[in-house]
Amino acid sequence: MSEKMVKLTINDKAVEVPAGTSVFAAAAMAGIEIPHYCYHPDLSVAGVCRMCMVEIEKNPRLQISCNTPATEGMVVKTKTDKVKETVKNVLELHLINHPLDCPICDKAGECKLQDFYSGYGLYESRMDYEKVHKPKVQDIGTIMLDSERCILCSRCVRFTSEVTKTNELGIFNRGDRAVLGTVDNKPLKNDYTGNLADICPVGALTAKDFRFKQRVWFLDKTKTVCTLCAHGCNTVVSRNPQTQKLFRVEPRRNPEINKSWICDRGRWDFHYVHDENRVPEPKRFVDGKWTEQTWHGAFQTLGEEITTEPTSMLVALSAQMTNEEMTDAVNTLSSLGVKDFTWVVDESVVSDSKPFDGILKHRDLTPNARGFEMVMKSLNISWMGTAQAVEKLKSKRFTRLLVMGLEGYEMPGLANLLLAAPAETKVALHATSQTAFLEKCDWILPNVSAFEKSGTLINAQGMSQKLKASVPKQFLSRDGQQVAWGLLQKSDRKPLSAR
Ligand code: SF4
Ligand code: SF4
Ligand code: FES
Repeated sequence: MSEKMVKLTINDKAVEVPAGTSVFAAAAMAGIEIPHYCYHPDLSVAGVCRMCMVEIEKNPRLQISCNTPATEGMVVKTKTDKVKETVKNVLELHLINHPLDCPICDKAGECKLQDFYSGYGLYESRMDYEKVHKPKVQDIGTIMLDSERCILCSRCVRFTSEVTKTNELGIFNRGDRAVLGTVDNKPLKNDYTGNLADICPVGALTAKDFRFKQRVWFLDKTKTVCTLCAHGCNTVVSRNPQTQKLFRVEPRRNPEINKSWICDRGRWDFHYVHDENRVPEPKRFVDGKWTEQTWHGAFQTLGEEITTEPTSMLVALSAQMTNEEMTDAVNTLSSLGVKDFTWVVDESVVSDSKPFDGILKHRDLTPNARGFEMVMKSLNISWMGTAQAVEKLKSKRFTRLLVMGLEGYEMPGLANLLLAAPAETKVALHATSQTAFLEKCDWILPNVSAFEKSGTLINAQGMSQKLKASVPKQFLSRDGQQVAWGLLQKSDRKPLSAR
């Protein structure tokens, strides 16, 4: 049955929306912005900030648009003098006790009080009395709370009640003593706390990880996806273009996948990209110690070894690689004669298509297990499961193991493979970071992180999404495609200046 639609006009623009849509949402669909604080597309309607006032023909009083359904023939105006005067008065009320913190507030540049004051406020202060003071700089876990800056929009309270269902936050007292706080002053305790800093329209909730690190106007943004589990949440990554350092990962709204949220791990686990534990250059374990190597040397030695005895090698591809990396790795290594492939993944959880916590988080901590299956099937190449790979390594069926595309510190499935390899097995690891298993390896090759490469990934729901590089390649790292082609050519043809 087709959806019932209603037609209305907003600022003389004809709009057609599904019945039940609010006037606010109808205006947003038509590209008309209405000032607001408490409305959020992924939370229930509270109607408490009174900022979203509109004039509706034949209605003597202004109405809040977030809680008024659009109806057939409705004529709405959002920018009349009456609306502007009312919004200005509402804003004056919101700002009456607001501290003059803008120069030191971390929300500056993204604050809706600043934005709407310049659009609708611009009045002379009529406040002759001392402002009401409330608790400031309160540590509530991953977030700092400044109750004095809070405009009591209740978005954060609704988030902990409707999304995480943990109910840590509440509004206590009445009138100008009303204050936002945590229940029994206990810290926040859920895996999605960073979203509170995003949805707070002012600087009352700020993330400890980001506050005072950068002014937001110094940052460039890249739209990409999170690679820390199989859900593939859509994100925006911010970097300072001068230092080329990452500063922040935030959710990018996608109603089909992650709505407006990401988990705290996806938000704050990016620091490994710049940490000192990254593998800076290719290294080989010779005569009891690690020695630095060039990519050229690594490709020559490993490429020769593969070509000489391709069937003695097992290649394990991490499900953290993109489809393009996997395709090139399998194609080039097959052309060198390699016949045995497996994957690095926790096979017991890869078939879960839904988050285990009912929100976003998956037990499969890799972003592209579905992509691995699709690539192998499309290339008509069979692969062995992890249990079989472990058995064959233990039985010394292979004398060489090449593990490609490892990223970060949590690499489910890696320990089983490496521990199964007998001491005499020659192991080459292509990884971003130095792991506890280095003593098992003969070679370690620096891999790029997900923030340094572009490509496609297929999430647990089977949706193909684009990963986009947000910082340049760090150190001398190479992605899976570069390693695959280097091994095929047995040399690194890049000019020295590009290394
Ligand atoms: S802390 Fe922020 S999100 Fe929470 S009620 Fe206050 S202004 Fe709204
Ligand atoms: S739920 Fe998974 S994909 Fe989403 S942000 Fe968290 S780790 Fe990343
Ligand atoms: S956005 Fe409508 S009342 Fe707050």
